[in-house]
Amino acid sequence: MSKNIFYIRTFGCQMNVHDSEQLASIMVDAGFEQTDDVSQAQVILVNTCSIRDKVAQKIVSQIGRYRQLKENNPYLVIGVGGCLAQHWGTSLFKKNVGIDLVFGTHALDKAPEMIRRIQRKGGAIVDTAFHKAIPSLNICTLPKNGNLQTFVTIMQGCDNFCSYCVVPYLRGREQSRPSADIIDEIRVLVTHGVKEVTLLGQNVNSYGKGLAEGLRFSDLISKIDAIDGLERIRFTTSHPKDLTDDLINCFGKLGKLCEYIHLPFQAGSNSILARMNRGYTREDYLAKVVSLREACPDIAISSDAIVGFPGETTMDFESTLEMMERIRFDNLFSFKYSEREGTTAVNLSEKVPEKEKDRRLSLLQEIQDRHTLEMNKAMIGRTFGVLVEGISKNSSRDMMGRTRTNKIVNFRGTENLHGKTVSSLITAAYLHSLRGELS
Ligand code: SAH
Ligand code: SF4
Ligand code: F3S
Repeated sequence: MSKNIFYIRTFGCQMNVHDSEQLASIMVDAGFEQTDDVSQAQVILVNTCSIRDKVAQKIVSQIGRYRQLKENNPYLVIGVGGCLAQHWGTSLFKKNVGIDLVFGTHALDKAPEMIRRIQRKGGAIVDTAFHKAIPSLNICTLPKNGNLQTFVTIMQGCDNFCSYCVVPYLRGREQSRPSADIIDEIRVLVTHGVKEVTLLGQNVNSYGKGLAEGLRFSDLISKIDAIDGLERIRFTTSHPKDLTDDLINCFGKLGKLCEYIHLPFQAGSNSILARMNRGYTREDYLAKVVSLREACPDIAISSDAIVGFPGETTMDFESTLEMMERIRFDNLFSFKYSEREGTTAVNLSEKVPEKEKDRRLSLLQEIQDRHTLEMNKAMIGRTFGVLVEGISKNSSRDMMGRTRTNKIVNFRGTENLHGKTVSSLITAAYLHSLRGELS
């Protein structure tokens, strides 16, 4: 038989990006060969996301384009995995004639076997079952092309059930990995040149729930901080209600923990936060930000916000803007509320018209751009440690790296600096990056 070549396309969050890395590793172990050229593939795997309707529609169109490749290659197998597969299950077949396999968020490890079965016998397969233990959670993926950074999943699933969100239904209940497995994985990664790990989970700061170890997330980070050869630790995503003092106090104390946190606030009005089932008030959130900045004055804070949630009045929206002015986030990912089938917010009245959502989103983004630029400009004239990741996208004469606060710095330098932490004086600041010079 000729080579069994597969291609993976990923949509969605960092967890999905990491799932795709694990899926690729499972496929290679099972004897398949990966390609970056879709026209060469006998198997196309689309790892999907269902967080907002626009994302789902984009994925459906992309699958449609892949389906056309079957005209020249009738034996092509198209597999759709991940969150949208979990969400729509068998109905994906109806939406897209030409899909052969639908595999959910707990079925990555079974993909090769199912693909082989389809290649042998034809037909279509769906596996969207949930399992108590997800086998793919423990797969260590080694960095490619001299990458210094990797993701390490520490927990999966979400128990929070924010009223707008599909994730708890698609990823299942929270499951934490035993700390020994995580530590072993990071040790292996370090021996392969990794200097920075991002600990991943839908809600990393509730890590440890359900484990016999009795370990908190802050205890896990302290253990990871002791790993020789590792230089930087980041994590995502944190939920404000679970951001405890012991975790806040790790910032500025643990040498490897970067001064950066992504802490979604979603909305500034208490009545909207309650309707969202977020489990905290604006006052709680503001108090956490004060504590974070007391523990670590230089900490960078990024966040997520949703505009146009059902019942969001102009005054509610203004509370969101007011929170932004008070906190001044380093970065903000903002979204128009998107109604998702199966979530409880579907039943809420007082939907906000699409046009008004657009208006609110652009206003919010305008304010955030101003803040981001002002905060980046405040770094001019200061010197920061920059971990050099590679050649800059802007110019082959420049290298790029990141500060511990997760800001991109481009500077004149040569490739031998790759992997080193250099000291860089910031000389100019833009919206998405900084310019520096070696100092
Ligand atoms: N587990 C993470 C990430 C969830 S998804 C967390 O809780 O922070 C990332 C972001 O997508 C969320 O923070 C939220 O801002 C946004 N989001 C989720 N569902 C949405 C929806 N139905 N409409 C619009 N934005 C949504
Ligand atoms: Fe979704 Fe809320 Fe869970 Fe985040 S915490 S994944 S927003 S339900
Ligand atoms: Fe999307 Fe699933 Fe991540 S819905 S945001 S890929 S957890």
